Amino acid sequence: MAKVTINDLLEKKSEGKKITMLTAYDFPFARIVDGAGVDAILVGDSLAMVVQGLENTLPVTMDEMLYHTKMVSRAAEHAMVVGDMPFMSYQVSVPDAVWNAGRFLKEAGAQAVKMEGGSEVLEHIRAMTRSEIPVFAHIGLTPQSIHRMGGYKVQGKTEEARKRLIEEALAVEEAGAFALILEAIPMELAKTITEKLTIPTIGIGAGPHCDGQVLVIHDLLGMFERFVPKFVKRYASLKDDALKAVKAYIEEVEKGDFPSEEQSFK
Ligand code: KIV
Repeated sequence: MAKVTINDLLEKKSEGKKITMLTAYDFPFARIVDGAGVDAILVGDSLAMVVQGLENTLPVTMDEMLYHTKMVSRAAEHAMVVGDMPFMSYQVSVPDAVWNAGRFLKEAGAQAVKMEGGSEVLEHIRAMTRSEIPVFAHIGLTPQSIHRMGGYKVQGKTEEARKRLIEEALAVEEAGAFALILEAIPMELAKTITEKLTIPTIGIGAGPHCDGQVLVIHDLLGMFERFVPKFVKRYASLKDDALKAVKAYIEEVEKGDFPSEEQSFK
């Protein structure tokens, strides 16, 4: 099956077809997500919280991100794989940013990288794009800014913040980003940004008017319960199902019902 390309995503926007994106962090989940037919898989730094059990996304390292991206790339036959630039892999300098972004393509098999930020990363986007590294931008609630933002809060609610986000969206497009994630902003603002841009917008907590949607797979499947953001819809309760299965196993082993003859050799 052919790999999804940047052009496919741009074409979807121009044809008014919705783009689907989900996170995955390892081979089995990437197999499911890719097999189901999503357009893009984000190996998000959210893995710090949903896989590594950390408080926020800040501690995950470049090497850990590459390790997970390699597993996902191995599984993805169709979906575009996007590696997420972790905290401090791009903030210090533009050359660092280009070098680290390049590692996602060169070592981990990704087709693009994602980077949080607006006006502060324009030079980074330009330099990566010049180096043939496709960049997914990400504005609104940017979880790597948790300490400055004072928590995971909806952004763009005042007129000034709204204006700034529109300017930043236009600026990242102008700098060369091929797509833009809008996280946790009012839906009317996401609609305005989506209409102003030629590149696709992918929303998470940004309402229905974006060109596409992304969710964290553990949220969608009911596997992360520390908190459930308002924008999450659970399509399954895998944690509950897994718990039931493991409890049934314990009970059967304790009762001597497993293994039965069926699982035994003669
Ligand atoms: O890390 C991540 O999973 C993300 C998405 C929530 C957009 O950045």
